[in-house]
Amino acid sequence: MKRIAILTAGGDTPALNATIAGAVTRANALQIRVFGIIKGFSGMLNPRFPHLELNPLFHSIPELNPCYGGTILGASRTYIDSRDKSALDAVAHRLKTLQIDGLICIGGDGTINGMQPLAEYLPVVLAPKTIDNDLGLNYPEEANDWIREPSATPGKFKYRKLDTRPEIELDEIINYATPGYATAVYVAASGIERIRTTAESHRRIAIIEVMGRDSGYIALGSAYGQPDMILLPESPIDFDRIEQRVREIYEMQKNVVLVVGEGVVTADGRLLGDDAKQFDPSGKPVLSGAAEVIRNELCQRLGDSYFTSKRRNEGASSAIFTRKLGHTQRGGRPIHFDRFQAMQLGGKAVDLLHQGASNYVATLQWTETRGFFVDAVPANKLRDQWGGIHPRLMHKSLYDAARFKPSDFGEKYLAPIFTNAIGPEDMEAVRVNLFHPGNLRHSYPSVNVDIQKRIRLLDG
Ligand code: F6P
Repeated sequence: MKRIAILTAGGDTPALNATIAGAVTRANALQIRVFGIIKGFSGMLNPRFPHLELNPLFHSIPELNPCYGGTILGASRTYIDSRDKSALDAVAHRLKTLQIDGLICIGGDGTINGMQPLAEYLPVVLAPKTIDNDLGLNYPEEANDWIREPSATPGKFKYRKLDTRPEIELDEIINYATPGYATAVYVAASGIERIRTTAESHRRIAIIEVMGRDSGYIALGSAYGQPDMILLPESPIDFDRIEQRVREIYEMQKNVVLVVGEGVVTADGRLLGDDAKQFDPSGKPVLSGAAEVIRNELCQRLGDSYFTSKRRNEGASSAIFTRKLGHTQRGGRPIHFDRFQAMQLGGKAVDLLHQGASNYVATLQWTETRGFFVDAVPANKLRDQWGGIHPRLMHKSLYDAARFKPSDFGEKYLAPIFTNAIGPEDMEAVRVNLFHPGNLRHSYPSVNVDIQKRIRLLDG
């Protein structure tokens, strides 16, 4: 293997550059040239095939910094349609023109779907990423537990997972955590801590919406910021119980902080946060507004009198407020855990290609005795019997629905990731960089400017 290509697809994460850097570091040692494709699959579909060499003379380019969030290659949610043979042929031809012997895609479940048809043409491997932590399996046979039923739309199906495993062991999880997840939780937990003190001072109820789509891992991890209640997509919303718990907590401490995962659903499976009825380019619903729905419901149920009776001179609509942490969870410098594990996974992806593997996913595993280590699974292991890949839902045993908190087992799951996830260098970076006097004078030095100068096109 002499030349490989690498791309970053789907939503960005803080750890993408670290994964690329891990791959390039390993490739340097193996004397493999690495070409980055610009903007994920959209770059491959572009006849001009924008690309750049990431390790001329087997030295990483200086713009590739594992501490720098996002991706110097750019990302997009455009995927290759596996039924579009002529597009696939064209992409394979472009890769061949560049003499590429293997391809690494850094992405999540959508990326596997885009990558897999290319395995017919050249070896392909996935290095995982997603802040949602939803790429993997709770136990090795989980993909077989999905069943499908006809939906109301003819020719479409509804998928449901059978509850065959009420309990799991931590060491059977395939892909324990995905790079980007730890940093997203760090941002979420920090935001919650900050909102808490203002909720406390003003006797307010704060409802904080976090990302994660259908998986509640970010919401679960946000427990480190000590919210009073966490609502997860995996546990349907029960407004009576929420109201009762909010009242109990407000009576006691005159403020409540609730975290809500953006993909929360009602008991009949209706998404609370898809009011916009919009879809992203990969066809997934844009999730926004779950916190607002919960706020409106609480405003109605508690009413102004609840707050005025407590000598608050504000009504419900000012006492209950929402905040979306939004894309702050996806951006900026990755914390130590993400940087380190992302680099290992990038390196593993190169090793897999070098060893002749194709259609594999590099994974991060954990056992009590070994701690974290990298491994790999065939991509098809993640597919159900009809060939679909489902986002990993958080296993129910990680959550204590009665207390709206992580269960004991959930705490056990989180501890290996987050204990020592932040390095002293992360704190030092804040101290040195944030209030650097030069920040006031100099405009932001976007890495895109230098990368642009390195981009080459197939036609010149
Ligand atoms: O999948 C990652 C993610 O950040 C989700 O948590 C979120 O719903 C979505 O992407 C947001 O996507 P976009 O950046 O396209 O709005």
